[in-house]
Amino acid sequence: MSASEFDGLPGVAVSLLKGGVGKSTIALNIADRLSERGHETVLIDLDKDGHMTTQLGYDEAYDRETNLGDALIDGEDPQKLLLETDFGVSLLPSSDELENIETRLKDERFADVKLRRNVVEPLIDDGYDYVVIDAAGGRGKLSDNALIALQKVIIPLIPRAGSINGLNKMIERQISPIRENIGLDILAVTPNMIRETMSQHNEHRTLLENLNREFGSFVPEYARVDPDVFDALDDRNQTVESIPKPGIRERTAISRAFKQGMPVSAFDDECDQIPNFDHLADLVEEQSNA
Ligand SMILES: Nc1ncnc2c1ncn2[C@@H]1O[C@H](COP(=O)(O)OP(=O)(O)OP(=O)(O)O)[C@@H](O)[C@H]1O
Ligand SMILES: [Mg+2]
Repeated sequence: MSASEFDGLPGVAVSLLKGGVGKSTIALNIADRLSERGHETVLIDLDKDGHMTTQLGYDEAYDRETNLGDALIDGEDPQKLLLETDFGVSLLPSSDELENIETRLKDERFADVKLRRNVVEPLIDDGYDYVVIDAAGGRGKLSDNALIALQKVIIPLIPRAGSINGLNKMIERQISPIRENIGLDILAVTPNMIRETMSQHNEHRTLLENLNREFGSFVPEYARVDPDVFDALDDRNQTVESIPKPGIRERTAISRAFKQGMPVSAFDDECDQIPNFDHLADLVEEQSNA
């Protein structure tokens, strides 16, 4: 497809302005599912900390002289920066220079579209099918660039006090302005690291309940629970046939795979959460062809 028009490019940014929620893990596993389907997929690590890059074993690339900044600001060919992983996804690594790059971006004209114009569009024009971005964990030019580059976002939330508040702030301060001016689709707001069952009141259940009540249409199928089911769970006079176990669940296979620098499918192809990553990949495919 031609990338010259300003409408959504194929792929997704995984973003939340908070750390430790599973952005990198989810981005990696979505990229893996897209690649598994035969799509040429680029995973961009846009987090200054470069956790994804170093987890995947590319510490040297994180420190190298030629880096994302050269493509982003100076117009170098981004394809030259790509690394081929063992699981078929091409990685565009983060860099220890990203902090400086973010500062330099502030002085650039059209700073918000640099990633789109200088990195994502050239990659799509070179024949890559999808781009998945592990977005920066904090607010700034790089984070805005991630959302504007693809105009599609998946937002992970974990069971933690203030999660929904954080999401509301992100929508108000970052997503809504981009949505109104350029266009931005929320493909999913996905719970992650869900451990407890839904029959007891705890942060896991609270997150699922609030997400379904307030953000129902953005909740992916695997995490949808009808509000009536929660009411029935609390009503002694009603029986609930099966207690829902919404995903994405916490699984040691997921974290061990990440520690060893691979998607969960390469570590344990029977992990019961792989279909959930496949569902997120479905949403990316559907919305990229829309
Ligand atoms: N569903 C899950 N089950 C088990 N472990 C998980 C799951 N999701 C994420 N993790 C683990 O939680 C930790 C944080 O996840 P991750 O690094 O992907 O989050 P992040 O939002 O990218 O964080 P950071 O802000 O540090 O970049 C990692 O050790 C990861 O392996
Ligand atoms: Mg990360």
